[in-house]
Amino acid sequence: MITLVKALTAQVLGLMLTSTLTLLSPALLHGPGYLVLLQAAAAALCSYILRQPYWWVPIHLLFVPSAMIMFTLQLPPGLYLLALLLLALVFWGTVQGDVPLFLSSAAVANAIAAIIERENAQSFAELGAGVGSVAVPLAQNLPIIVKAWERAPLPWLIMAWRCRKLPNLSVKRASLWDGNLAGYNIVFAFLSPAVMADLGQKISGEMLPGSLFISSCFPIPDWHAESLVTLKDRRRTTLFCYRL
Ligand SMILES: C[S@@+](CC[C@H](N)C(=O)[O-])C[C@H]1O[C@@H](n2cnc3c(N)ncnc32)[C@H](O)[C@@H]1O
Repeated sequence: MITLVKALTAQVLGLMLTSTLTLLSPALLHGPGYLVLLQAAAAALCSYILRQPYWWVPIHLLFVPSAMIMFTLQLPPGLYLLALLLLALVFWGTVQGDVPLFLSSAAVANAIAAIIERENAQSFAELGAGVGSVAVPLAQNLPIIVKAWERAPLPWLIMAWRCRKLPNLSVKRASLWDGNLAGYNIVFAFLSPAVMADLGQKISGEMLPGSLFISSCFPIPDWHAESLVTLKDRRRTTLFCYRL
């Protein structure tokens, strides 16, 4: 929630800055286009000063200009409500700090399948499983028990539909922080750098000795990975494999 408050503050401060500048220097009032660009730049500057993460700068730069362009399109207001609803269902917990949805590639699922076979694993869990890009092909192709946690309603619903004929895959609509990882030979997560230290604590407290934790893209700070697997997919994904 603090993220949204900061974003709103950046826009309001940007507006105040723009108003002050135009009052002090009316020459800036060349038309609405100039004002919109000035507001966008001022909000981006305020976001930087408020120490929001760097990706907020382009969001602030685009926010008011896009709103103005959409306004000129005169779309029915219901469309905005629909778009908001869809975004909320996909990015459910993001305002509370949950990691947003990005999908793993087929190469990630294949690499994990190879690890499962090599390890002769019987059980696999995925934390924040999205639409099932990894969990579903694994359950389809391997004789393994798969458990997936996903909190966002729409990705969860899509995954639940995809695995409706897979008795070895169970999907829980719950926070990954509430699941117990003790019963799984291999646990996989593709989350964000922000949560990796806490996740490391959860894993070391719950996973059994000898089991394997695989993190896509983001290492656990100060942990030594047993192996790294670098893939040739678009993201050049690295899988960090940690032996408990
Ligand atoms: C980067 S995506 C990865 C999706 C999937 N694992 C994949 O590799 O394609 C992260 C997912 O974790 C989910 N997520 C984030 N925080 C969560 C939480 N606390 N509990 C459950 N799911 C969470 C998000 O909704 C999102 O679908």
